[in-house]
Amino acid sequence: MSRVPSLTLHDGIEIPQLGFGVFQVPPDDTEEVVGQALEAGYRHIDTAAAYRNEKGVGRAVANSGIPREEIFVTTKLWNSSQGFDSALETFDKSLGRLGMDYVDLYLIHWPVPSQNLFVETWRAFERIHGEGRARTIGVSNFRIDDLERLEAETEVRPTVNQVELHPQMQQGELRSWHEDHGIVTEAWSPLAQGAVLGNDTVSGIASAHGKTTAQTILRWHLQLGNVVIPKSVTPQRIRENFDIFDFELSEPELDAIGGLDRGERIGPDPATFALA
Ligand SMILES: NC(=O)c1ccc[n+]([C@@H]2O[C@H](COP(=O)([O-])OP(=O)(O)OC[C@H]3O[C@@H](n4cnc5c(N)ncnc54)[C@H](OP(=O)(O)O)[C@@H]3O)[C@@H](O)[C@H]2O)c1
Repeated sequence: MSRVPSLTLHDGIEIPQLGFGVFQVPPDDTEEVVGQALEAGYRHIDTAAAYRNEKGVGRAVANSGIPREEIFVTTKLWNSSQGFDSALETFDKSLGRLGMDYVDLYLIHWPVPSQNLFVETWRAFERIHGEGRARTIGVSNFRIDDLERLEAETEVRPTVNQVELHPQMQQGELRSWHEDHGIVTEAWSPLAQGAVLGNDTVSGIASAHGKTTAQTILRWHLQLGNVVIPKSVTPQRIRENFDIFDFELSEPELDAIGGLDRGERIGPDPATFALA
């Protein structure tokens, strides 16, 4: 039923290009909010152990009436759980909270270079993947240096790197490295948590298409080839963010949004972020 295009990862797994993020969705509201997203048509949900709402995601999926295999579920391993044995144990706990026997995508949430554990953590991910308990495995917030270490020291290449990416922070160098290495770029905070929604350039393009600024930015992501996972707890916005498949931005419009890049993060810097 879904009109959402999929991208094929380098291991052959298909990922819906539009998903639904649940960072900061309160645990008690998650089942209802994710239920609304599934009803709107989303078939890809992005959670994390750190969001403390995996249970609600699992319940929404289980109660949706939609076959499990039609929904792409991502979760992530938090910083304090890095390490080989710890990652294996932590993964089991996430599966338990989700009430699932596999996830579609498992991500290392942050590299935390200062604790120097992401390589051995990745070896645990390779084992989980080999057992079929994560259909595909990837990373989040990894820099080129971190990806190069994984490439040199481990067997399985990450299929995805989920990073902060929006018009103010376009990640050009990292995106082209991903492209050269067959890694899909997934954009977190794709709307810059609302910070770019009042931009005049985006507003002008949006009104030319009869769309909102949020829809225009999400469309820009899709046309760049990003996977995009906007979050909202507002039913009307959940539906609005899904309604982005009936228009196309022109090259000059894409370039105009490209011109808004300021290399400006709203989130932490992966080089130093080490919150346990
Ligand atoms: N891997 C990582 O380290 C990492 C870090 C951050 C986020 N993420 C993932 O990325 C997902 C999205 O990022 P995010 O939640 O930080 O930010 P976001 O999706 O860029 O923005 C969410 C904010 O924008 C508002 N919003 C959503 N749609 C809107 C619309 N159509 N019009 C106006 N406002 C709208 C939401 O408000 P309401 O909810 O009040 O409607 C919310 O305040 C997260 O949920 C999470 O899954 C991953």
